[in-house]
Amino acid sequence: MQKNMDQEKTQQFEDEIKRLYFENFDDNLMSFWNVHLKPVIDIAKKLAVKYEADLEIVWLAAVLHDIGQFDDIENHDTVGSEKAYKILFERGYSEEIAAKVRDVILTHRVKSYLPETLEQKIVATADAMAHFTTAHYVWMAYISKKPFAELMKKFSGKIQRDFQDKIFFEEEREIMRPQYEMLKKWFEIV
Ligand SMILES: [Fe+2]
Ligand SMILES: [Fe+2]
Repeated sequence: MQKNMDQEKTQQFEDEIKRLYFENFDDNLMSFWNVHLKPVIDIAKKLAVKYEADLEIVWLAAVLHDIGQFDDIENHDTVGSEKAYKILFERGYSEEIAAKVRDVILTHRVKSYLPETLEQKIVATADAMAHFTTAHYVWMAYISKKPFAELMKKFSGKIQRDFQDKIFFEEEREIMRPQYEMLKKWFEIV
């Protein structure tokens, strides 16, 4: 359901979190904003409008969805969801909004917790779509210390899960199919 929201307030919040990345992290993590977070935000916002979801929840969750990565990458969904709740609550967002955003972040990996609400499905989908449309894997390869063949195998499994399990809308899956097929060929080369 589309609700009236304060776009300016949400944009200011996005800018604040962007500043946090740019002021507190090294070049690689600053790049993470441009390579991943901003594209996820843009895609998620478009999907929220298209599917008439709660834009404020989707937008805030997209901004914060990977905020746990720098504390605990393996558990960044659970760690990040609690961290996001705190960040929002401290900035005066209601308990209801903070809790909804927390639950979107908890399900964004489609791993331990599965998306159920429209907003949860949108952010999981946007996260996956951004992997197909940006230099995400180049960035991941760059920061990784893993041997090349091992990395390609890992990426190959990851794009398959992204394509099959994380895109919740048929139309979006079909739009992503050519990029998926291309990346699949790249990663299966080794
Ligand atoms: Fe994530
Ligand atoms: Fe992500």
